[in-house]
Amino acid sequence: MTLVAHSEIHITMKKINIIFIFLFIVSSSFAQDAKREIFINKKYLNLPVESSQERQKMILSPKGSDTREFIIRLSKGVPDYWVFTDVSSFIGKNLLITFPEYVKGLDDIYQSDEIAGADSLYKELNRPQFHFTTRCGWINDPNGLVYYDGEYHLFYQLNPYEINWENMHWGHAVSKDLVHWEELPVALYPDDLGTMFSGSAVLDVNNTSGFKTGEETTIVAAYTAMVPEKQVQCIAYSNDKGKTFTKFDGNPVIDSKEKWNSVNTRDPKVFWHEKSGKWVMVLFEKVGISIYNSDDLKKWDYQSHINGFWECPELFELPVDKNESVKKWVLYSASGTYMIGNFDGKKFTTETDKLCYFRGKMFAAQTYNKIPESDGRRIQIGWGRINHPGMSFNQMMTFPTELSLRSTREGIRLFSEPVREIEKLYKASYQWNNLSPAEANENLKNIKGKLFHIKMTFEHLEGDKIKFIYNGNEIFNYNISQNTLNGEFYGGMNIEKLTFDFELLIDKTSVEIFVDNGRFTIIDELPASKDNSGFTFDSGKSQIHISKLEINELQSIW
Ligand code: FRU
Repeated sequence: MTLVAHSEIHITMKKINIIFIFLFIVSSSFAQDAKREIFINKKYLNLPVESSQERQKMILSPKGSDTREFIIRLSKGVPDYWVFTDVSSFIGKNLLITFPEYVKGLDDIYQSDEIAGADSLYKELNRPQFHFTTRCGWINDPNGLVYYDGEYHLFYQLNPYEINWENMHWGHAVSKDLVHWEELPVALYPDDLGTMFSGSAVLDVNNTSGFKTGEETTIVAAYTAMVPEKQVQCIAYSNDKGKTFTKFDGNPVIDSKEKWNSVNTRDPKVFWHEKSGKWVMVLFEKVGISIYNSDDLKKWDYQSHINGFWECPELFELPVDKNESVKKWVLYSASGTYMIGNFDGKKFTTETDKLCYFRGKMFAAQTYNKIPESDGRRIQIGWGRINHPGMSFNQMMTFPTELSLRSTREGIRLFSEPVREIEKLYKASYQWNNLSPAEANENLKNIKGKLFHIKMTFEHLEGDKIKFIYNGNEIFNYNISQNTLNGEFYGGMNIEKLTFDFELLIDKTSVEIFVDNGRFTIIDELPASKDNSGFTFDSGKSQIHISKLEINELQSIW
């Protein structure tokens, strides 16, 4: 009796368990997925984000087109900010939105011909006024810097759906003067090979790739597609001046995971090497930079490798002291360490140890391909790792600089100075000569405004420190005892006379400091104003002689 009863109970329990498991499977595969269908008749879909929510996958499935998948902190209550996705290519179609659970934010999503926040765009409290920032979302590395037909293209790492890093896309902006930028639609969306990591772009003038279809020169982008297990190199081409890209159907063009036994193989920088008549790619692999060659941008052959660099490699040639008959090659990676040497198209041979030309909040800077010969500059833009609290966008691009190689007592060194186009933004300029700090402070009292390009030369006469303050925040602090500028070692160029040449770019949230004609650069965040005291030299017990002080107030680019 007891035995029978036991086994009956057992069987009943088993049945209940099975029913529970069945219900669980049913509920996890169906009940949790929330869906909403919208007939698209506007350009943008505005999506509410709440920072405290978990990241979850949203799938946009337009009828008859490829799906768009991304991770988003969709709001459950009151959104902290809004992001958008361009749905103009879905106009006239039903769009199915799938999310793992029903949340209020799903109902709040709306379509519009304006992005949410369009009214206050570029006028937001913490919006940089002469540095490129995206309308909303997160940006990091500049990608695909190439000049074509009057336009400087700036592609960049973009997460359209949050103010933090995720979901890498290639964003796109263009400028006619390196100063004013227009943001264009996303250039590369993630695909089956992964999210879109950093890379570069070239003009395929001789149609070596065979991608050309019309009149325009083909722009070919080389980028990394990333999944957690591996990073492969891919290409995409544009025959409409960078407006739209088609991914090559033979992607990936390089898959070197096995060769390096590493998941760190990324950030192709490609350029045309005139002397060997080949395409060259420098690629970050494992713990260094590899060099590859190609005839058609599709088939790449490994040539050589140099250890000791991390991410976003660059390689280019520059004249020394503007002398076109003496040229050297510069090899650098994301953090600003570099070497100077020679390059034969296949192998870089260094003539220096590791050097460093900047510190602070810049990373992953890239230089332009195909600047016209009549211009001849090597122009660089970096990722400005500057936070923008309370904004629906984050990070920025550093102001474009011109790179050069110059002889110094230590040997040839890389210099970086703001491009001359900054002068386009001058709205009021003041200049004084031969001042003591007290006299300078008297003049500086009259300076109002928020955006500046400042140049000064001073001689250090007495004491160990000199500080330049703006609204209560230290802009620079040079310490003669430690030979440090804002805490970073910088020995100076004119040691006997102890003169320093400073050039400062001050925007709402950032300061870029170029010392001694760009021999050393520091990029920093500018904290919110502590007071409204404007500019002051604080020399304490030190004495300086300011031989030149030039203040240029700037206007906004927006
Ligand atoms: C550098 C980097 C690159 C990578 C990209 C991803 O900042 O880590 O190596 O391609 O960012 O966003």
